[in-house]
Amino acid sequence: MLAAPSNPIPQWLPFVASAPGKAILFGEHAVVYGKAAVAGSLSMRAYALVTPRTDGLMRLCLPDIGVDTTLGALPSAAAIASLAHPGDVATLLSAALLPQEGPGRTATLTFAYLAGALLPASVRQSGLTLCVRSLVPVGAGLGSSAAFSVSLAAALLRLGGRVSAADSAEERQLVDQWAFRGEQVAHGTPSGIDNAVATHGGFLAYTRGSSPRQLGAAHPTRVVICDTRVPKSTRVLVAGVRALRDQHPAAIDSVMDAIGALAEDAAQRFADPSAERLEDHLRGAVALNHALLAALGVSHPALERVRMISAAHKMPAKLTGAGGGGCALALVPQAAAASDVAAVCAELAAEGFACHPTVVGGAGVECAARVGAEAVAAWVERVAGGGCGDLADAFAALSAGALAELAPPVPRKLIP
Ligand code: MEV
Repeated sequence: MLAAPSNPIPQWLPFVASAPGKAILFGEHAVVYGKAAVAGSLSMRAYALVTPRTDGLMRLCLPDIGVDTTLGALPSAAAIASLAHPGDVATLLSAALLPQEGPGRTATLTFAYLAGALLPASVRQSGLTLCVRSLVPVGAGLGSSAAFSVSLAAALLRLGGRVSAADSAEERQLVDQWAFRGEQVAHGTPSGIDNAVATHGGFLAYTRGSSPRQLGAAHPTRVVICDTRVPKSTRVLVAGVRALRDQHPAAIDSVMDAIGALAEDAAQRFADPSAERLEDHLRGAVALNHALLAALGVSHPALERVRMISAAHKMPAKLTGAGGGGCALALVPQAAAASDVAAVCAELAAEGFACHPTVVGGAGVECAARVGAEAVAAWVERVAGGGCGDLADAFAALSAGALAELAPPVPRKLIP
């Protein structure tokens, strides 16, 4: 897997690779104790636009988190291959070039690692601009860093001639493997579920220590992701559950078993050809999973408020991720009208929560192999209202609303 790029594309035009965020539907916390969890891709995505340069510079532009930096030299592929852990890439870079602690620093290190490992000499010599826009909220447990790593890995692998449209099983596996390394740069010892969901899309079942399992023929499901904006620490919450289990091992193990059973059951049911039956099942299971998580002590008054408001709109909700604040996920009935979703979002927003109506279970990574500069420029012009000099700058300046127009993923719309 670490072999040097084989057939780098000789000349290349700007293109976009994109990948989704994720939400855990069932099984958070119990997954730490070896039970199954089920996660799905979100229609909120990260979009990585790469454009060629001629000055040999590597510009990384992440307007959503205020990063616009130019790396002079990337680490060599050999230096990267010699690292004991991808996270050690910081030792290969000048500290002066790195942003301070935070998502900007993490993203810069991930870029340096993946670009250093994957870019062919020709592209290193001429340089490139990478501009990533993301609709996945950062730090909300929605897989924003995996969406970044996967879109980046796909774009760089394409420049190295190892991936074209990222639509075959082999290409996706390669993207997933490299994105996992990117996630190791960002998180040290990630489980791999976030990059797997961002790569493959749809719904995945996951058990610690084994490869994620794609769940067949599932129906994409409408949800509202509600960010309570209450800060939480996954580490503290996981430690709290552990302390509770130390105190009441038999009771807490029963709760873990029950959560695991819900996840296993849901994993089976995602293959149900009847969307109505699946919806019926999920509505009950979501409410039950939340109650079990509350029994573990990881709910929060803000999450309970979301749950009550959503339930009053016939949208059962549960916390998603670590809890203690963070995000909740409310299931939107198939029959719900756009006005029903707007009504629940307005009520939640009035409480100070941020609402994201989205779809779980859609497309994974997409790499617009056939998209050329003209198509990207035409698209930027259309959504930005014209006048784009530098393509990357125009892309960087797109409003979140204009980007949102692009979901489902940009590339299909860009293919002429
Ligand atoms: C956090 O998103 C999910 C937890 O189950 C922690 C983990 O799986 O590492 C709470």
